[in-house]
Amino acid sequence: MKLFLDTANLEEIREINRWGVLGGVTTNPSLVAKEAEDPDRVWKEILAEVDGPISLETTEPEAGPMYDQGVRLSQMAPNAVVKVPMSPDGLTAGKRLVADGIRINVTLVFSPAQAILAAEVGAYIVSPFLGRLDDVAADGMDVLRKICDIYEVQGYETNVLAASLRHPMHIVESALAGADIATMPYDVFAKLVKHPLTDIGLEKFQADWTTLQDELKGEA
Ligand code: G3P
Repeated sequence: MKLFLDTANLEEIREINRWGVLGGVTTNPSLVAKEAEDPDRVWKEILAEVDGPISLETTEPEAGPMYDQGVRLSQMAPNAVVKVPMSPDGLTAGKRLVADGIRINVTLVFSPAQAILAAEVGAYIVSPFLGRLDDVAADGMDVLRKICDIYEVQGYETNVLAASLRHPMHIVESALAGADIATMPYDVFAKLVKHPLTDIGLEKFQADWTTLQDELKGEA
């Protein structure tokens, strides 16, 4: 399972990219708005920074202008993936983009039925939002498992991207369910690497090493 960052913040992207585990980035209009900068500049910097698929979201509500915007976004760099919403207009624009050879990510997916539609238009990625389902007392992980099972049974090639992830166990369970990609905010990514026993162990190793060095110096 590839690990993506769900952010438009370049510092966060640079930090995780440094670890060598960043497979790509997902952005959405809210995340880009948080940066309060020219969106084109933000997207271009991210596209240049990360060697992997970068999802850029359309904002036009109607199919025609959404398609035009999607073409423009796809031309920003070869690693651009165009996000379209799960709606009749999103599917219509998405299908046209796919026909042009443009990779699309169908976003705002909350049910297996919607995920079937995304696969049928030939999406490169489908993005079920787990955390937002959990927020309304539904079972986001159950929806993800069903989507992964359906895609397996049907032989759909669309990549399942678990989105709206809120904590490390979301990532672990998504991997077990068979998701192709998990996207998460910086704070969740940072939690993946942490374990108190790692910190305690590292501190002890360093202390013992320092003691040995001091003893050797004393003998010399
Ligand atoms: O970017 C799509 C999705 O991951 C958004 O998540 O945290 O706003 O529910 P969130």
